[in-house]
Amino acid sequence: MTSAQILPILTYPDPRLHKVAKPVAAAAGLEPRIQQLVADMLATMYDAQGIGLAATQVDVHERLIVIDVSEERNAPLVLINPEILWASPEKVKGDEGCLSVPGVYDGVERSTSVRIKALDDKGASREIEADGLLAVCIQHEMDHLMGKVFVEYLSPLKRTRIKSKMAKAEREAAGQR
Ligand code: NI
Repeated sequence: MTSAQILPILTYPDPRLHKVAKPVAAAAGLEPRIQQLVADMLATMYDAQGIGLAATQVDVHERLIVIDVSEERNAPLVLINPEILWASPEKVKGDEGCLSVPGVYDGVERSTSVRIKALDDKGASREIEADGLLAVCIQHEMDHLMGKVFVEYLSPLKRTRIKSKMAKAEREAAGQR
């Protein structure tokens, strides 16, 4: 494996953020390509100071997410082919942000706890029960794999405002190049 690289992150409303990811083929252990992708996605997430990143956001349309909700930024969680087994009927509304929608934070309602099944980075099947920030983060990242960005839970008016804000930021960035 070559050293980890920082990957470019797609920004909303890039249409590639709406592609639906395919399962990672993990029949006989995990391929070097996936190991490299995991290393690159972790490096990219830490570099951007995010708490989660889905492969969709780096334009790889396979079911893989990385998360680290620890204060110390030293507890990476790799979820390959994650599936929700159970989501609590109790919901909580909290402000979310996303590396693909920089500078935007808004309220989204999520289940307070979830139980999921996924493969880890060694290809082993695990079940995880999560609540609090981790539960929210898992649901947010799994949405990305389905081609859904959190702003799609907001009102059409808010989405329009966010799109023009993103377009303005893009024009300003282009002007600086
Ligand atoms: Ni996101």
